[in-house]
Amino acid sequence: MHGQRLLLVGVGVTGRPYITAARRLGVRVHAVETAPRAEALAGLADEVTVCRGGSDELWYEAACEAVRHTRPDGVVAFSEPHVLAAALVQNELGLPGPSLRASVLSRNKALQRGRFAAAGIGQPEFLVTERLGEGRDWAAGRFPVVVKPLSSAGSAGVELVGDRGAFEDAVARRDTEGRLLVERAATGPEYSWEALVRHGKVWFANLTAKETTGPPYFVEVAHRVATGADAATRATVADLGGAVLDALGMDTGIVHLEFRLTARGPAVMEVAVRTPGDHLMDLLGDAYGIDWYEMVVRLALGADLPAPPAAPLRHTAGYLPSARPGTVTEIRGLDEVRAHPHVVAAEVTAAPGDTVAPARSSVERVGHVLLSAPDPGTLEVALDDVRTTLRVVTRPGGLPDDGTS
Ligand SMILES: Nc1ncnc2c1ncn2[C@@H]1O[C@H](COP(=O)(O)OP(=O)(O)OP(=O)(O)O)[C@@H](O)[C@H]1O
Ligand SMILES: [Mg+2]
Repeated sequence: MHGQRLLLVGVGVTGRPYITAARRLGVRVHAVETAPRAEALAGLADEVTVCRGGSDELWYEAACEAVRHTRPDGVVAFSEPHVLAAALVQNELGLPGPSLRASVLSRNKALQRGRFAAAGIGQPEFLVTERLGEGRDWAAGRFPVVVKPLSSAGSAGVELVGDRGAFEDAVARRDTEGRLLVERAATGPEYSWEALVRHGKVWFANLTAKETTGPPYFVEVAHRVATGADAATRATVADLGGAVLDALGMDTGIVHLEFRLTARGPAVMEVAVRTPGDHLMDLLGDAYGIDWYEMVVRLALGADLPAPPAAPLRHTAGYLPSARPGTVTEIRGLDEVRAHPHVVAAEVTAAPGDTVAPARSSVERVGHVLLSAPDPGTLEVALDDVRTTLRVVTRPGGLPDDGTS
C-alpha cells in the first residue's frame, strides 16, 4: 500500500478520518471538496481538487479532473452525493468499488423499491407519484403512509401521513414538489446493518438498534451499536443482508442498510453504499477495536484485511440531543455529561441566543454524545444519565419553555 494513491470524493468533517487512516498506511490522499471545505483540507490531504458545487454532476466533473493526470489506486466516496461520481471513476479505471448498479440504486429510493420488489425482498408496498395528489386513491386504503423524496438524506421531507385529511394537507403543501415515493408505514423496531464487503461477500457486519422520535418525522434519537439479538434474529438479518447485497450487485466497500423488523418479517427502509452518518463509524470502531475508516480504505485499494473481530469489545451508543424550535436560553448539564465515565465525547452545536429552526419536525437535533461501556446494562444506565442531565432549553415565540426531548 505504501506509496499508493487514494482519491477521496467528498470529505466533509466526518470523512477526515479517511485521510488519517490512509496516511497512516503510507497512502497519498487526493481529496475532492467544495471551496470552503477544500481550503480547510490544505495540510491534511496531499492534493485537493475543488468541486464547483454539490450535485452528483459536479462531483463527477471534479473527480474526473482529479484523475486526469494521475491514476489513483483506489477511490472512496464519502457520502451520498459522492457515490455516483466515485462509482463512475472506479468503473472507468477498473478499480474496486460497490459497482455501478449498487451505486445507482444507492442514490434513488424508488429504484431500490423496484429492485427489491423484483428480488422478493421484504419492504413496504409503495407508489411512485409525479405529483403527490395522484397518490390519493392508492393511499386511501393503506393509511398510515410515509411520503418521502427519492434522493435526499437526514430524514428531510420524510413524513408520516395518517389519514385522508392529513394526505390532503400534504398535497396542499407538496403537490408541486415533483416525484415522490408514497409507502405503507411499516411498524416494528428499526435497525441498521453496517457491512464491510469484498467481492460481494461480507467480511464483517454489525447490527445497530435505531431509536427515533417516531411519527410523524422519525428523527433519530439514539443508535446502539453491537446490539444484542437472539439467534433467530441474527439469522434473519444475515439472510436479509445477503439478499440485499445480491440485489444490489454489491462488489466491494461499505454498505449501510436500514430496516424494520415487522410482525411479517423484515421491511427495508433504504440502503446506501457509503459512510453511515450520526458518528456510527466512531461508535463501530470503539465497539470492535478496528478502524472502520481504515478498513474502507483497504477495501478500496484492494489491500489485505486483518482477521475480522470475533466479538464486540465494548457496547457503544450515540445519543442525539434535540431541542424544540425557538431561541436557545440555556445549555444545562454539558460539563457533567462530559465528565461521565462512560461518555467518550459530547458536543452541543447550539449556543444561548442561537435560533433552532423548525427544519423538519417539532424537535431539532443540536449535538451528539458518544457513549462506551463494557456491557449493555451499563450502557443503558449511562444513556439514561445523559438523557436526564443534558438539556438544551429554548424559548419559542417569546414564551418561557423548558422544551427538550
Ligand atoms: N415506510 C416506512 N415505514 C415506517 N417508517 C419509515 C418508512 N419510511 C421511512 N421511515 C422512517 O423514516 C426514517 C427516514 O427515512 P429514510 O431513511 O427513507 O430517509 P432518509 O432521508 O434517508 O433519512 P436518514 O438519512 O435519516 O436515514 C426511517 O429511518 C424510518 O424511521
Ligand atoms: Mg435513512
